[in-house]
Amino acid sequence: MTDRAVMLVTGTSRGIGLGIAEYFVERGYTVCGCSRSAGTLDSPHYRHTVLDVADEPAVRAWIAAVARDLGRIDVAVCNAGIVGSSLMLSVTPTKTWDEFATTHMRGVFLVCREVSKVMVRQRGGRIVNLSSPAVAWHMPGAAAYAATKAGIEEMTRVLAAELAPAGVTCNVVRPGLVLTGTARALGGDRAASMLDRQTIRREVTIEEICHVIEFFAAPASTAITGQTLSMCLIG
Ligand SMILES: NC(=O)c1ccc[n+]([C@@H]2O[C@H](COP(=O)([O-])OP(=O)(O)OC[C@H]3O[C@@H](n4cnc5c(N)ncnc54)[C@H](OP(=O)(O)O)[C@@H]3O)[C@@H](O)[C@H]2O)c1
Repeated sequence: MTDRAVMLVTGTSRGIGLGIAEYFVERGYTVCGCSRSAGTLDSPHYRHTVLDVADEPAVRAWIAAVARDLGRIDVAVCNAGIVGSSLMLSVTPTKTWDEFATTHMRGVFLVCREVSKVMVRQRGGRIVNLSSPAVAWHMPGAAAYAATKAGIEEMTRVLAAELAPAGVTCNVVRPGLVLTGTARALGGDRAASMLDRQTIRREVTIEEICHVIEFFAAPASTAITGQTLSMCLIG
């Protein structure tokens, strides 16, 4: 049990997820994170579990343990994701598709389903899923990435409808470009072409992403559900 609000975040070993965990630990949350590799955040208010979000028994056990040990889950952020690019006619699209579908769609489905059980029981909670502006860009090479992120968005809207009677809200944030290690590995041309498509043509900071999560999680946001907020972009 803890007096602090409890936030679950997936994909916290590095990048945006690590930044989200750090930000909310500093603002009074107990944060429970996960990733396939070891955790890197050292804080008495952070606990890390090594798991793959697509591993059903592991996700069930993780979320049940958090609810049992801490008493509740106030906010869940599905951030874990993979970044990559592959043309449909290249030799590897099936492998690429399976990786994206497994991590993004199966992973978000499992985490949302298990968290929903806890939030319905406690009659309230907030789910925030990370998508991407790539959903609207039709960029060559992004079929698997963009389609599975679009799937997350629609999954979130349906979940919002299902969970509204229980006082649980479900929303999506589409961050603008953040040059995490993975995003950098895509190459300078790719990053430049993404910035060119943004209305506000600069990187976003992880703090700015956290501000959107904070907005969706705020007590005054009980009437906001099923929404997708695009950063740096109109629409
Ligand atoms: N960076 C951007 O410009 C940008 C823009 C829009 C949206 N996004 C989205 O924001 C999220 C984070 O992106 P990022 O740039 O921070 O990526 P990142 O630096 O590659 O970090 C991804 C995190 O997810 C974890 N992860 C990946 N697959 C996982 C799995 N199957 N199970 C558990 N954890 C897993 C990784 O840890 P392990 O590898 O150890 O598992 C890592 O902690 C992604 O969903 C991405 O699509 C990013």
